[in-house]
Amino acid sequence: MRSRQIDSARGPDPEMADELYQPRSEDGPDWAAYYRHTQGRQPRPLFLKAMAAVAVSGAPPGHAVEIGFGDGTETLALLAEGWHVTAIDPTPEAAGALRAAVPEDAADRLTIVTARAQDAELPHFDLLYAGYALSFIRPAAFPRFWEHVRERLRPGGILVANVFGTRDTWAGDPEMTFVDRAGAGRLVEGLEVIAIDEEDADGNSFDGPKHWHVFDLVARRPPPEVA
Ligand SMILES: C[S@@+](CC[C@H](N)C(=O)[O-])C[C@H]1O[C@@H](n2cnc3c(N)ncnc32)[C@H](O)[C@@H]1O
Repeated sequence: MRSRQIDSARGPDPEMADELYQPRSEDGPDWAAYYRHTQGRQPRPLFLKAMAAVAVSGAPPGHAVEIGFGDGTETLALLAEGWHVTAIDPTPEAAGALRAAVPEDAADRLTIVTARAQDAELPHFDLLYAGYALSFIRPAAFPRFWEHVRERLRPGGILVANVFGTRDTWAGDPEMTFVDRAGAGRLVEGLEVIAIDEEDADGNSFDGPKHWHVFDLVARRPPPEVA
């Protein structure tokens, strides 16, 4: 996989850009170095969209799933808000850092799963958050994974995730999943679509200029009608 090192001059979301730094490694991204780099950051703007959607829905904290939790910032924020969280990431370093950071009084509300999302058995959940992680699921595994996600989303539950688009500089990497606008729409088809925000802009990267194409998806399974 090519190097993905991004600096703070990335188009519309500069604060996040530096944090998507991914040092080069023969076997793919060096996630451990990435976590060291991102440690202490603020929750992503995408996560703030998730919290806004939850606030508008009026639902109390329930069970959240985070896919690709990385340095754990958003899982810790969910725990602080009173959620039970199933946090999934394949790297043992992510699990180690999160375990070390979780407050004692929240530990019994956290389940860490060290596995690829496509290999994990998901619980039924009220919120799925996946920031800059879903595209790392291989294309061959993605449809089945997403079907499982949709099946485990409870009535009233909210999906918040972003996926890289087909015009992204990294598009074409056979290990990663990319979608066009129609494909992004299909991921949330049949749900109440709260937002599909598209970022399609040039920015800078550590390796030089890069085009960013990212879809932010926010959608909800409608709650049952009250008679
Ligand atoms: C770019 S990082 C994003 C981390 C964090 N969500 C953030 O916003 O900083 C991608 C994360 O996805 C994880 N990841 C890679 N492949 C994955 C897979 N198949 N299933 C779940 N997570 C995966 C990586 O280990 C890494 O922690």
